[in-house]
Amino acid sequence: PTDPAAAGNPGGCPIDHAAPARAQGCPVSPQAAEFDPFGDGYQQDPPDYVRWAREREPVFYSPKLGYWVVTRYDDIKAVFRDNHTFSPSIALEKITPTGPEANAVLASYGYAMNRTLVNEDEPAHMPRRRALMDPFTPEALKHHEPMVRRLTRDYVDRFIDDGRADLVDQMLWEVPLTVALHFLGVPEEDMDRLRAYSIAHTVNTWGRPKPEEQVAVAHAVGNFWQLAGNILDKMRRNPDAPGWMQYGIRKQKEFPDVVTDSYLHSMMMAGIVAAHETTANASANAIKLLLQHPEAWRELCEDPGLLPNAVEECLRHNGSVAAWRRLATRDTEIAGVAIPAGARLLIVSSSANHDERHFADADFFDIRRENASDQLTFGYGAHQCMGKNLARMEMQIFLEELTRRLPHLRLAEQQFTYVPNTSFRGPEHLWVEWDPAGNPERRDPGLLSRRQPVRIGEPSAHAISRRLLVASVTRAADGIARIRLESPDGKPLPRWTPGSHIDVECGDTGMSRQYSLCGDPADAGALEIAVLREDAGRGGSAWIHRHLRPGGSVRARGPRNHFRMDESASRLIFIAGGIGITPISAMARRARELGLDYQLHYSGRARGRMALLEELAPLHGERLHLHIGDEGRRNDFDALLARPDPGAQIYACGPERMLAALRQACAAWPEDALRVEHFHSTLATLDPSREHAFEAELKDSGIVVQVPAGQTLLAALRSANIDVQSDCEEGLCGSCEVRVIDGAIDHRDVVLTRGEREAGNRMMACCSRARGERIVLEL
Ligand code: HEM
Ligand code: FES
Repeated sequence: PTDPAAAGNPGGCPIDHAAPARAQGCPVSPQAAEFDPFGDGYQQDPPDYVRWAREREPVFYSPKLGYWVVTRYDDIKAVFRDNHTFSPSIALEKITPTGPEANAVLASYGYAMNRTLVNEDEPAHMPRRRALMDPFTPEALKHHEPMVRRLTRDYVDRFIDDGRADLVDQMLWEVPLTVALHFLGVPEEDMDRLRAYSIAHTVNTWGRPKPEEQVAVAHAVGNFWQLAGNILDKMRRNPDAPGWMQYGIRKQKEFPDVVTDSYLHSMMMAGIVAAHETTANASANAIKLLLQHPEAWRELCEDPGLLPNAVEECLRHNGSVAAWRRLATRDTEIAGVAIPAGARLLIVSSSANHDERHFADADFFDIRRENASDQLTFGYGAHQCMGKNLARMEMQIFLEELTRRLPHLRLAEQQFTYVPNTSFRGPEHLWVEWDPAGNPERRDPGLLSRRQPVRIGEPSAHAISRRLLVASVTRAADGIARIRLESPDGKPLPRWTPGSHIDVECGDTGMSRQYSLCGDPADAGALEIAVLREDAGRGGSAWIHRHLRPGGSVRARGPRNHFRMDESASRLIFIAGGIGITPISAMARRARELGLDYQLHYSGRARGRMALLEELAPLHGERLHLHIGDEGRRNDFDALLARPDPGAQIYACGPERMLAALRQACAAWPEDALRVEHFHSTLATLDPSREHAFEAELKDSGIVVQVPAGQTLLAALRSANIDVQSDCEEGLCGSCEVRVIDGAIDHRDVVLTRGEREAGNRMMACCSRARGERIVLEL
């Protein structure tokens, strides 16, 4: 590749192309050289377009774009997490620099778009974000729900008898725009004008306009800028009116250095785009995706309780922000690739959302996916979208209204087109059809008054469980039942990766238990678990043994994987004790299929109590080592692991005593060589042995909440039914701030300034704790 713009640039291609050719040549691979986010491949399906990168070259330099492209979930989340090393300052910068003529046009309008929130660096950003956060709390958002419902109803009324509509033109563009204007506090201005302006703004920022288009775009953007200024002037004359911008104007009086004039004018323009196009596109993508999966659409029509999770899955599978940007502020590294200071990064969040390492069977569209809300379409960390719950509310209401009133909706034959740009993505038109004679409200007008409560925040766990048929229950060993679960309608179940588990709900006891999957991951027809009856346990396994019978059914969530196997390890050592064989057997099967170098050690007290023996022996032959207590063969970990092998990884599952012995035997091994099963994600979990329990007295509610050593304050408040907002839950975003009246605080966030910490009157509930025994909160 020869890109004169990049050669010699800080942060550009690592090779100096002006220098004489070197033996090694340019490190940019042919696919990286071809990468073009303005071409049809990226426009139609960004995560599919960069699949090769996600699999083989997760961080690469694109000479055509002059950006480093990041494609995997963990890397992208790490970039979002560290907004000092990876500055968001370029988030709204023009991705294609405009020529002098367009620049002159922009200047003639006094265009001075500057930092808002999304592209502001610390230390300016966080105080501003926090000052402006209140209108986004769930209580504040609830006030907008009737307005969103009314608008949605009105727009659907206009076309319900037509039998055919372009949902983008006839609803999905204007409703989010109107909602955005209401939220911001803008009087309903000339919508068509704003609509044209915001498209121009997208092209101006994320697109590649041809030189002849640039001037027209610049005029539209200039006009948009002036209109934003005029609207703001009007608002300043009536600052007590409702609206987020008026709230900002009022906050400016309190914090003039934090909420500046430049911020307000820039946000007036950027806010419309942030709140409007993102949501319009996300809704169009969601409806298209659901109609392409008619069985999912039908399920939503029958059970609106599934809507919140379906919205998350749509945002994951086909969100409206395909990629976002960051600037490296120092020499650093992402996934082992050296990134120079000044490098521009395109972090392809839509690719993260299809990363198999985080989302099992990632391309599968599953409205019951348990971790759908881990999607990165709203970004993550300090800049995570503030408006996400407003967007979620709109999407839930649109889908609720359409599934209830037009369950017989289908996609019309059409070609989908997209405005070419790196980031904002949604079809320009979405033609749908239905037979108006079949509109259910003609038979049942009462249907119009039904409402599904909007759920703000995470979808509830019970709503997303799926019913599974118990196909067979067989005896796998003494006290161990092997259970085969199948989908009731014969449709494929999500495929899973070794180490995954499902959460089985024990009828209406309120209990649910997690069991690792042990069957064949390639079998999309069934999920298999093996359950040891533990009479001394809390009753879950006994319930399963008593109630699951062939022909019956059970509800379960998942599959989900917190125990992933690294398929690139040079050697794998699998160690299972007792029923811990379930995830390990699936891993060993996979290792065998891949032809990897592995050993499988399986210990138990007696042969008769060891499940899966008869299938393991023929499958693994000499690689299987059995350690059977009553046959006098115990596993000697010290001998087995005497010599650390730097390329090897050890995967273990079994009783806590066995794991403790293993930890000891691995003391001299590299730190992450030993991996053990965690049923819960380990992020932000506390080490109870190093924490102390404390009490939180809630002044306003008059209750006292006990916070055990192994629980966060946020979790303890929630289990006492106290609603506290949260986003990142690791001290980055400032959403979970609570006011402290009394008691010393052990601050662990990166949100508060040193002065605020010292003042000791606020804390982040997701991570910070009490220093002493008691803390008093204003809740
Ligand atoms: C930030 C996406 C709707 C207001 C962001 C970011 C993304 C995003 C990717 C940057 C995150 C980061 O850098 O980590 C979306 C999507 C939406 C949506 C996909 C709809 C589906 C909204 C709405 C509003 C809004 C409805 C406002 C009413 C904001 C604000 C920020 C932001 C104020 C800046 C936060 C900060 O930097 O501290 N959004 N957004 N967004 N969004 Fe949204
Ligand atoms: Fe993000 Fe607590 S700081 S949720």
